[in-house]
Amino acid sequence: LPVDRFDLAIFGGTGDLALRKLLPGLFRRFLDGQIVPGSRILGIARDALDDDAYRARVGEALERSGCGAGPRTAEFLQLIGFRTLDATADQGWDAFAGELKAREPRPVRVFYLAVGPALFVDICEKLRTHGLNGDDARIVIEKPIGKDSASAARINDAIGAGFDERHIFRIDHYLGKETVQNLLALRFANALFEPLWNAAHIDHVQITVAETLGMEQRASYYDTAGALRDMVQNHLLQLLCMVAMEPPATLNADAVRDEKLKVLRALRPIDAGNAAALTVRGQYRAGAAAGKAVPGYAEELGRSDSRTETFVALKAEIGNWRWGGVPFYLRTGKRLAERVSEIVVSFRQVPHSIFDAASGPVTRNKLVLRLQPDEGVKLFLMIKEPGPGGLRLKRVPLDMTFAETFGVHQPEAYERLLMDVVRGNPTLFMRRDEVEAAWQWIDPILAAWNADREPPKSYTAGSWGPGAAVALIERDGRTWHEESD
Ligand code: BG6
Repeated sequence: LPVDRFDLAIFGGTGDLALRKLLPGLFRRFLDGQIVPGSRILGIARDALDDDAYRARVGEALERSGCGAGPRTAEFLQLIGFRTLDATADQGWDAFAGELKAREPRPVRVFYLAVGPALFVDICEKLRTHGLNGDDARIVIEKPIGKDSASAARINDAIGAGFDERHIFRIDHYLGKETVQNLLALRFANALFEPLWNAAHIDHVQITVAETLGMEQRASYYDTAGALRDMVQNHLLQLLCMVAMEPPATLNADAVRDEKLKVLRALRPIDAGNAAALTVRGQYRAGAAAGKAVPGYAEELGRSDSRTETFVALKAEIGNWRWGGVPFYLRTGKRLAERVSEIVVSFRQVPHSIFDAASGPVTRNKLVLRLQPDEGVKLFLMIKEPGPGGLRLKRVPLDMTFAETFGVHQPEAYERLLMDVVRGNPTLFMRRDEVEAAWQWIDPILAAWNADREPPKSYTAGSWGPGAAVALIERDGRTWHEESD
């Protein structure tokens, strides 16, 4: 369905996020007819560009992103303009505000802060002093929101001084991924799973977000962040919440977010006393990616003294009735063997096997939700191997790959989330208290690591991370899921 007519101002309009994700995403929504005539997209940055120069850049970015130079590209580019603004200087702001206010009838106003968090406060302040923070305004901010709970609270306070919480959209693009939303459907639109969704029937849960990319061109950010802040504090904890939360009464934004918040608050603390046993951090050294030799993190950075982790594995537990005693093993890393993100729910063993040794072992049922690549859901079941011989057991997947089942292009996370912002639907965005609760769980882990003299464990680029991550789960008599399982 088309969304309301909007003016979308993208701060950081010449940056990587805008050109690689946001504008191609908007273009695809445009092709689908969701963006109505009269809507406008304004790239904003300090660069002295004019509309045409910016359109040319956007056109190139669309081609690079594979959504190319089709007949409607020129039409889309006409929606786009560019304004030169500096968040820390006054010049140009009056004209910008005047231009937005002059629009009749008034469209939805969206301000997307695709910039580093250091600029969030200045931009919000400028928007507020220029009267652009009214009821029709929406502000979108990207992670990382701070680097610990104190800095996140400061940022949230500063943004909250100008904008009401209901107008603040904190993006975690993992929540826009198809499979993540499908988790809601799977859990709450089927009678089959929910009765089993607890410690009595689930042995453990694994969440893996593995990337083959390295740190790319983001050294100045990444080296101050590391994988725990960059991925675990937000994406992996959000996935954990979606798996573990109680059924919300409705899909109303606060109903869902209240339930996620309870999960975050029930996470058992990991601190100096248990971090060594429950966490593993690693940093990649030179190795190979997609068959090509790649340098190590230290070489990319040009320094060998960085203790920043590019890999984390940890064992989390949720201290509540539903999940008491069920480990949630989380791992994420750069320069790993494959690009794969998945959630694996591993059920308990049958209480008693009636089969003899010749039938082979009865292994656990698993539900695997694959976020990327080839999004889909697999339910691993035990069956009898067909044939006239003896009764041989085999574990096989009931497989539903979305692309095969539906045969359509799945919208990318940012496409859906951008349209949700225009619609004013914050269900898939993080509320202030969620972000801060996630940091409160992360803070003591960071403190324990900082106090620890050990550097991160080294792993070869193109491997599955340090051996200690395998030991972390195998120590408990379990293994990381492999597609061939
Ligand atoms: C971002 C992180 O939030 O997510 C990046 O900052 C990471 O470091 C990216 O590469 C992964 O997103 P996706 O959608 O490619 O899995």
